[in-house]
Amino acid sequence: MKVDPRPWRDAWWDALYGPAGFYRGVEGPAGHFTTSAHGPLGAVLAAVVAHLADQAGVCRVVDLACGRGELLAHLHDQRPDLELLGVDIVERPSSLAPGIDWLRSAGGPALPDELRDLDALVLAHEWLDVVPCTIAQVDDEGVLRTVLVDEDGTETLGEELTGEDRSWADTWWPDARPGERVEVGLSRDRAFADLVSRNPAGLTVAVDYGHTKATRPAQGTLTAYREGSLTEAVPDGRRDLTAHVATDSLGADEVVRQRALLHRLGLDGATPSHATASTDPLGYVRALGRASSITALTDPHGLGGFHWAMTRHTRVHA
Ligand SMILES: C[S@@+](CC[C@H](N)C(=O)[O-])C[C@H]1O[C@@H](n2cnc3c(N)ncnc32)[C@H](O)[C@@H]1O
Repeated sequence: MKVDPRPWRDAWWDALYGPAGFYRGVEGPAGHFTTSAHGPLGAVLAAVVAHLADQAGVCRVVDLACGRGELLAHLHDQRPDLELLGVDIVERPSSLAPGIDWLRSAGGPALPDELRDLDALVLAHEWLDVVPCTIAQVDDEGVLRTVLVDEDGTETLGEELTGEDRSWADTWWPDARPGERVEVGLSRDRAFADLVSRNPAGLTVAVDYGHTKATRPAQGTLTAYREGSLTEAVPDGRRDLTAHVATDSLGADEVVRQRALLHRLGLDGATPSHATASTDPLGYVRALGRASSITALTDPHGLGGFHWAMTRHTRVHA
């Protein structure tokens, strides 16, 4: 049965989290694309996360939207003293180390009821970009309308954007011109606020590609990935659908670029002294590998541009 064109936000949710949704697939996100949580980059990211947990004075790390637990596996190897909890929309992967807890979630902006009263470093790495949002476009007469999409990805313009989505657009993404798009960040703002509210005594961090008022992309960023390649945005459940995050509207205490954060923590990708190559060849090779991971993670034209939106709750002592 053919489904009528509908707002992108609804089609997007079904395509990723519905019964036949993309993220329900056995191969998991790592089967389709690589993130900083995977492989050698993941080892460095895990060290950064552990460091932030120590700084925040917490001994628990919650990885929300953790894929199949790739980053948690690194954390478990490096810091077996930390309590670790992974949350994603599938059953607990059997490959996960026994000490790592797991919670199943519905997907998109929805969080599981059990996730509350936390005192943890809660990390949401590449979650908000897959929280579906309303997509709008300005028509030839200058009216901002909701973009509708059908099953094969054909878009049409629907009703004029009104209500809370419209208020968000007027505040955070004003002055769009005919033909330009607005990716309405309200669903992401609410999802982040919900996550923060569940971690009243800890540090909550969302990490994603992002933009701010000064850098909004006029044509939007909605795009799709399948088996490692960029592909057309079609809500068919066979590809990831993602759009960058307006991080300035999240209401975080601080938004810092990944490059700046890693530099702040003393990770600058400097190569190890060549003198150690003869005294400790294995250590030298390991340090070289780590330096190249740090260089990738701090590349200003790549991963270094990721936004880290952080909100810290201070513990209230009775
Ligand atoms: C782009 S992948 C990122 C995976 C991992 N964090 C990484 O960086 O490699 C997005 C993940 O978010 C998960 N996800 C989306 N909404 C979620 C929710 N409400 N709760 C838990 N996981 C969610 C998806 O199932 C998917 O595994």
